[in-house]
Amino acid sequence: MSRIAYVDGRYVAHRHASVHPEDRGYQFADGVYEVVAVLGDHLIDEEQHLDRLQRSLSELRIRWPMSRAALRLVMREMIRRNRIRGQGALYLQITRGVAPRNHAFPAEAKPVMVMTARSLPPFDFEAARRGVKVISLPDERWRRPDIKSVSLLPNVLAKQRAFECGAFEAWLLDDSGMVTEGTASNAWIVNDAGDLVTHAADRSILAGITRAAAFRLAAEHGVRPVERPFSLDEAKRAREAFLTSTTSWVKAVVSIDDTPIGAGTAGPLTTLLLDWYGAYVAAIKEGAPNG
Ligand code: PDD
Repeated sequence: MSRIAYVDGRYVAHRHASVHPEDRGYQFADGVYEVVAVLGDHLIDEEQHLDRLQRSLSELRIRWPMSRAALRLVMREMIRRNRIRGQGALYLQITRGVAPRNHAFPAEAKPVMVMTARSLPPFDFEAARRGVKVISLPDERWRRPDIKSVSLLPNVLAKQRAFECGAFEAWLLDDSGMVTEGTASNAWIVNDAGDLVTHAADRSILAGITRAAAFRLAAEHGVRPVERPFSLDEAKRAREAFLTSTTSWVKAVVSIDDTPIGAGTAGPLTTLLLDWYGAYVAAIKEGAPNG
């Protein structure tokens, strides 16, 4: 089955899709993106992703390439044309546009949107409970990681280092040794006092959509998460640790820098959160098809 990409107003064969060499996303990382999970013909937390996209665009003063309603239609069309029936992911990116290379904003550029969609295997709950290893590394990103910009080089380098260490993710440490988040996920612990802790969604982390869902679900079940920085040391002493993201959902973290966390598998609250999140996603899937 041939995949279809959306590039600046056109649906094209994925293998022939290309962007202009003077696209500012390509030359300056002058653009933003979103990754949205697809389940059947549903987009998980679509409005929250579009709200965050709106925020990223406005922080960078990039115009919407089309109305929000039109964007929703293109997303659906991409799911349809790529025949995503089960689980999948939609990637969408908007750059400031194509212009002769010059750091300052071009007077005339028209924003360029590209979108890709792919099918994924069904979510592996067993693997999420078995958990993953993380390592810690300094957070070398710019000071606005709350903007979901395509400027991801520090994230790429840290994730590669994690991979080379046999770990799934790197937890990033600020100058005071506090864990901000992962390279592509948010970081959580259940500390030795039993508090569910995650960094506040301020300017030093990306306000994850899965983080927000996990936060809500925990609160609905009577577990009020505490939003504050936690140190690497506190994380290593934690009873439980896990990460959240659009593609990872809720994944247990079973070691940090080779220090085992908990019993070496998902702890009780992590297991509950994964179940709650799974039920939340399943309920969205069972709802009316969106759009
Ligand atoms: N990553 N923090 C960072 C730095 C991220 O890149 C992501 C998402 C998250 C989790 O956000 P959400 O729950 O909205 O997916 C946190 C996406 C999936 C990616 O870059 O592929």
